Amino acid sequence: MSGEATDTPRPGAAGVFADTTAAPVVTRSPSAEAASTGMAPDPFALLADWLPANDDPARPLMTLSTVASSGYPDARTVLLSEFGPEGLYFHTDSRSRKVLDVTATPRAALTMVWPGRQLVVQGDVSRASAEEQTAAYGRRSRYLQMLAWLNTDDFAALPLEERLATWAAFGEQHPDGSLEAPGTWAGFVVSPVRITFWEGRPDTAGIRTEFTRASGAGDSWGCGVIAG
Ligand SMILES: Cc1cc2nc3c(=O)[nH]c(=O)nc-3n(C[C@H](O)[C@H](O)[C@H](O)COP(=O)(O)O)c2cc1C
Repeated sequence: MSGEATDTPRPGAAGVFADTTAAPVVTRSPSAEAASTGMAPDPFALLADWLPANDDPARPLMTLSTVASSGYPDARTVLLSEFGPEGLYFHTDSRSRKVLDVTATPRAALTMVWPGRQLVVQGDVSRASAEEQTAAYGRRSRYLQMLAWLNTDDFAALPLEERLATWAAFGEQHPDGSLEAPGTWAGFVVSPVRITFWEGRPDTAGIRTEFTRASGAGDSWGCGVIAG
């Protein structure tokens, strides 16, 4: 955790991913804004309120849900690497199951949760540019940069002592700052078609504000407030 005390902590993680959290300063409520103005607020401006800045080293966690070839949904935790007008980025190993999934079915959902808040993004998945991938790797912690090289099934199959020795040797051979992204490093962007902000309340029912991208209408979004 970042250690900062705030009213609304961002999703957190422990252990080796301890550098992956952030605490939000949420300044706007989508439902209140929609109700008071009668106009749909810009969902990306709201996202910017709910998510840490891209240069914040404490990255939030997301549940990335994909459609597996079995037809069952699959899900796992990933870091939100960054976000922009084109969508929300995650990075992974190109040999992973999630990449198989999004290659076959380039659609995904992202879920992020805070006490009293939930954000769900449904969208189309496409590959990030080479520049974005390189920059994202450069922003990863030393541990995660090494992990991107060593996180293979062969490595996973080693006895613990060999895993420790291999990790340490790799670290010695590749001093901090010398690593470049392996060829298997892959970035993806989830371009939202639906964004749902959920705000709970202790004194009455929670409320969801849902933005739906109008098909074929560029950046036009519909907005509705629905039951939680
Ligand atoms: C807190 C946390 C953060 C994680 N962040 C990432 C990430 O950013 N990218 C990634 O590929 N895997 C990440 N993982 C590992 C994934 O959850 C998952 O186990 C792995 O990517 C393999 O998933 P797949 O077999 O479904 O492709 C993270 C795991 C945890 C617990």
